[in-house]
Amino acid sequence: TGAVTYDPGFMNTANAKSAITYIDGDEGILRYRGYPIEQLAENSTFLEVSYLLIHGDLPTAEQLADFDSVTRRHTLLHEELKDFFSGFPRDAHPMPVLSSAVSALSTYYPDSLDPFDAEQVERSTYRLLAKVPTIAAYAYKKSVGQPMLYPDNNLSITENFLRGCFGVPAEQYEIDPEVARALDVLLILHADHEQNCSTSTVRLVGSSQANMFASISAGINALYGPAHGGANEAVLKMLRQIQGGDVTPEAFMEKVKNKEEGVRLMGFGHRVYKNYDPRARVVKGLADKLLTKLGGNDELFEIAQRLEQKALEDDYFIERKLYPNVDFYTGLIYKAMGFPEKMFTPLFALGRLPGWIAQWREMVNDPATKIGRPRQIYIGEGQRDYPA
Ligand code: CMC
Repeated sequence: TGAVTYDPGFMNTANAKSAITYIDGDEGILRYRGYPIEQLAENSTFLEVSYLLIHGDLPTAEQLADFDSVTRRHTLLHEELKDFFSGFPRDAHPMPVLSSAVSALSTYYPDSLDPFDAEQVERSTYRLLAKVPTIAAYAYKKSVGQPMLYPDNNLSITENFLRGCFGVPAEQYEIDPEVARALDVLLILHADHEQNCSTSTVRLVGSSQANMFASISAGINALYGPAHGGANEAVLKMLRQIQGGDVTPEAFMEKVKNKEEGVRLMGFGHRVYKNYDPRARVVKGLADKLLTKLGGNDELFEIAQRLEQKALEDDYFIERKLYPNVDFYTGLIYKAMGFPEKMFTPLFALGRLPGWIAQWREMVNDPATKIGRPRQIYIGEGQRDYPA
């Protein structure tokens, strides 16, 4: 079997050759299919970026119109799937509801499960892009005890999701174009990030030839953890704890630096970025603009900025090259938009969805793909005999 390399966390092991996302962590560069993230955040839409990630190039106007119309036509959930939501406790976290419902989609669409049939892969792509936002909005409605709204296919994915969360049947929901645009930009920023934990999970599950729904459901579960997508929710909890007076920002920073009780400055640090996360820069600009407008420019934003400033001047953070990551300010924006904390990680999942799909498709089409099967270094007992 030859020598095995010990590499916990795959710090130095590439499991894929990929043409989707380029990151230079030392320089703070992120590009999707060659396009700098800043340019996409400024000029593109989430739908167009989804097309770009999945198909490799920006769409022509006609290709974009087709892509838009086919995803809009697939937003409805099967009526029976709606019953599924009533099986969860009222206060269920929407992430496990989302992953369970995505997994359940495979039971409704036996015509889109074959990873090696291009048409079936197209169908599962549309279905996921269109239905995951509907599922996330339903999970939210369930948690607040309001009726679920059927999607309105006159709206874009992002607008529909906002309406699905905040609309009620008794009233016409007025979409605030600035909020819709800000959410679209946040989704663009989250859309792919090469071989992160959830994407690697999607690839690993998919390498067994499991269908796209099953693979992406697994990715959603990986994203749930606080060291990954759950960090945006954890940041708000941390800020609230400081705001509540349990601990001053200074005392909190001391705790972090002394590694007391495993406390970390949430929203800081990254496996790959050893420089300012380019997404965090865009998010901070959005926060400045939107929090003033929505009246969320509150104490929590001030606390966050104070923590950031302290960290950037502190040797502990400088030596370890710890900078704010994408999650440091996103929660504050989501909060100002009206989302409760437990919706923050589902919002990350909506954003990451096209990336997972693109990476799963790349993996399936790569002749070099093999079933994911890491090795181990055995450190247990030698042979022992069962007592006679
Ligand atoms: N606060 C305090 N110390 C930290 C932090 C932090 N946020 N992040 C890393 N460190 C320290 C860590 O203790 C270690 O110190 P030492 O060398 O003395 O042992 C050093 O920095 C290296 O950290 P690591 O844990 O070996 O680095 P990693 O690449 O394994 O972890 C990370 C990356 C993102 C899990 C980690 O930085 C972290 O836990 N951050 C907080 C959670 C967070 O914001 N996660 C969101 C990541 S971005 C969005 C996403 O991809 O999901």
